[in-house]
Amino acid sequence: MKDRLVELKDRLAKAELGGGQKRIDKQHEKGKLTARERVHFLLDEGSFEEIGAFVKHRCTDFGMDKQRVPGDGVVTGYGTIDGRLVYVFSQDFTVFGGSLSETHAEKICKIMDMAMKNGAPVIGLNDSGGARIQEGVRSLGGYADIFYRNVMASGVVPQISAIMGPCAGGAVYSPAMTDFTIMVENTSYMFVTGPNVVKTVTNEEVTAEELGGASAHSTKSGVTHLTAANDIDCIAKIKRLLSYMPQNCEDKPAKLPYELGDELRPQLREIVPENTNQPYDIRDVVKGVVDEGSFMEIHPNYADNIVVGYARIGGRSIGVVGNQPMSLAGVLDVESSKKGARFVRTCDCFNIPLLVLVDVPGFLPGTDQEWNGIIVNGAKLLYAFSEATVPRVTLITRKAYGGAYDVMNSKHIGADMNFAWPSSEIAVMGAKGASEIIFRREIMEAEDPEAMLLEKEKEYQEKFAHPYRAASRGFIDEVIDPIYTRRKLIKAFTMLENKVAKIPAKKHGNIPL
Ligand code: HXC
Repeated sequence: MKDRLVELKDRLAKAELGGGQKRIDKQHEKGKLTARERVHFLLDEGSFEEIGAFVKHRCTDFGMDKQRVPGDGVVTGYGTIDGRLVYVFSQDFTVFGGSLSETHAEKICKIMDMAMKNGAPVIGLNDSGGARIQEGVRSLGGYADIFYRNVMASGVVPQISAIMGPCAGGAVYSPAMTDFTIMVENTSYMFVTGPNVVKTVTNEEVTAEELGGASAHSTKSGVTHLTAANDIDCIAKIKRLLSYMPQNCEDKPAKLPYELGDELRPQLREIVPENTNQPYDIRDVVKGVVDEGSFMEIHPNYADNIVVGYARIGGRSIGVVGNQPMSLAGVLDVESSKKGARFVRTCDCFNIPLLVLVDVPGFLPGTDQEWNGIIVNGAKLLYAFSEATVPRVTLITRKAYGGAYDVMNSKHIGADMNFAWPSSEIAVMGAKGASEIIFRREIMEAEDPEAMLLEKEKEYQEKFAHPYRAASRGFIDEVIDPIYTRRKLIKAFTMLENKVAKIPAKKHGNIPL
């Protein structure tokens, strides 16, 4: 036994070293942690249990039979984060550039299968040169095995992907099918085809960073939900994100202990400006109602005319969606509708209640929007809210105009509690546009058309620029003084805690994609 234990120790030490000290040093020089260091920082101290440390690839081509590193370029296993079970895989760039072989893929699939059986999140730390080139189609098959499991796990257990190095070719589709992608600035990139292929096919000159770095994907494409300054920051963000999630779709997110106080927030009375066209930051409303310091914005730099993120209210995890008057007056357009819809569906599949803050002048007009499909994209948001069965609470702070009123979690599409501040205006459109249409003849025939327009605008405003018509029909449950908003919301979410709502049995819906 003594000799065997020495052998075991030696073998484990070899596996721990991955591609060797030289390559580890190279990894550090790039400002990156190694696969094992990442796992160490991610999981609770001493909680990691490795699975498959001795797995080796089976390739014999191109001299590969002489290069077999135990672990085969990926560290896999399970552990805990804040005491909660998670499964993790961490690609080791020091072993064949973290490239994915048939056996490397099998290791990832094994922990994904375990995560599904045991109902716990999967966290993937990606740092890989893509398909193991020496293996050909077997590595492509390995990718497809992972993709298939990503889809089967979608909506069952949370899946979080960190991009901490290269991620190119078809490999990008695994993160894309998980719930969240977080990219590390300057050391990671994602693209379907790299700069060389781009140059050949389209003659565009572009660097890897410009094409698929964290900045491009957090501002232009929206592929990444969050960015991180470095590996440590990335790991901290994964942990924070996970704190709002349940273990699986049959579980509820953890509720922190909370005792209701008076919860008065006088500052909320001061947020909406007198002038209805003056912008303000919807995040001030969010911060004014949620538990202090609990708001974690998702997609902060993409489609910023809608704000989405996780927070806690009375200790309870919620998803917040709010129109942002500071950007494009908070209008809904193609990108913001897609961003909102994806977020709503993520919350709904993981039992995270929704708080929707409305200040929306309508959908953005124009050929660009129509030709890019504002109809089907706007429909995504409408569809996502309509099918969501989690507790849904709406607060209208100012404008709720036109179709966007319906879309933004209105009573009619299944919201549970709809509040409005006295500053709300709920109408088919703004007073000026409405008057120009319905009083066109009177305005044209008037001695002073401008004065007539102003008079009619005022008339329309008096009729509709308030929440009381909607409240008289029951479309708004309560018009509230902003000072009480936080208290009302905490009580509403508490009241809705055991909500049960079912959508009709079907194979699956057909959301307009
Ligand atoms: C095998 C690979 C590899 C790969 C890198 N390595 N990528 N080995 N298969 N895909 C090895 C290198 O040979 C090298 O080995 C070590 O990893 C580190 O690579 P370097 O090139 O020295 O590192 P760096 O300069 O940082 O460049 C990283 C890189 C580059 C940009 C990722 O290695 C690269 O371009 N690799 C090829 C990428 C690629 O074309 N992959 C296939 C994509 S297609 P030594 O022994 O020297 O340390 C794909 C399809 C997926 O993935 C489809 C799914 C459906």
